[in-house]
Amino acid sequence: ATPPTREPGSAGPAGGGRAGIAARTLRTDRWWFQPLITVLGLTAWLVYAVVRAATQKYYWVGAYHYLTPFASPCLSKSCIPEAAHFGRPLPEFPPLIPFAIVTLSFLLAFRLTCYYYRKAYYRSFWQSPPACAVREPHRKYSGETRFPLIIQNFHRYFFYVAVLISLINTYDAVLAFHGKGGGFGFGLGNIILVGNVVCLWMYTLSCHSCRNITAGRLNHFSRHPVRYRMWMWVSKLNERHMMWAWITLGTLTLTDAYIGLVSSNTLTDLRFIH
Ligand code: FES
Repeated sequence: ATPPTREPGSAGPAGGGRAGIAARTLRTDRWWFQPLITVLGLTAWLVYAVVRAATQKYYWVGAYHYLTPFASPCLSKSCIPEAAHFGRPLPEFPPLIPFAIVTLSFLLAFRLTCYYYRKAYYRSFWQSPPACAVREPHRKYSGETRFPLIIQNFHRYFFYVAVLISLINTYDAVLAFHGKGGGFGFGLGNIILVGNVVCLWMYTLSCHSCRNITAGRLNHFSRHPVRYRMWMWVSKLNERHMMWAWITLGTLTLTDAYIGLVSSNTLTDLRFIH
């Protein structure tokens, strides 16, 4: 049967306009709940991260070589020399500028352009739309084909930088197996640091761009068995990308808070090997 034809701009899918109903939505379930907790969760995390990164304090535990990911790599002359694992090529930073401003900017760009976070903040902050079958407040939709949202297409390049930064975080976690008097040491802080790094890798490798890089453009999987295997593995991780996105916000906060508390002598690190 021929589908019904409509005038452009009229209601319904064929016309491309809005559904012809007065109510914002006919949904009666709690469709607003998910956008609401997304706004609360992301806002709380951002406030915490900005405050902590801007304080320039309690980011390093000298006795055990714990360095918070929020200050890594510490490249400024303002950094404690032992915390600067890659030297201090940058000048002293004025107050409020995070020591890891360079890498934090890339990480922010990586998360802002992430396919999952895009969905999350488009729905929750911009309400575009807040949920399926709920009318959005905006009159026009221009998509991601124009400035500024066309920048979302750079996600793949931010992914490459995120891999580098994950390597740096891994290096920091390895260096943190440090005893009080030198040599090998192991405490609760190490478990938290390593746990955070593992989760960061899970988030980074479950990225949609990573999946595309492994085998996205191959026509014949059979001719590329290794890439096919990697693609299968990343695809499995990718199914849980949203979960890793949230878990890593939690592990980053936990790692930073723990190091902050130990560094300020509020808490004593639980040591298994001194
Ligand atoms: Fe989320 Fe790439 S899609 S990090």
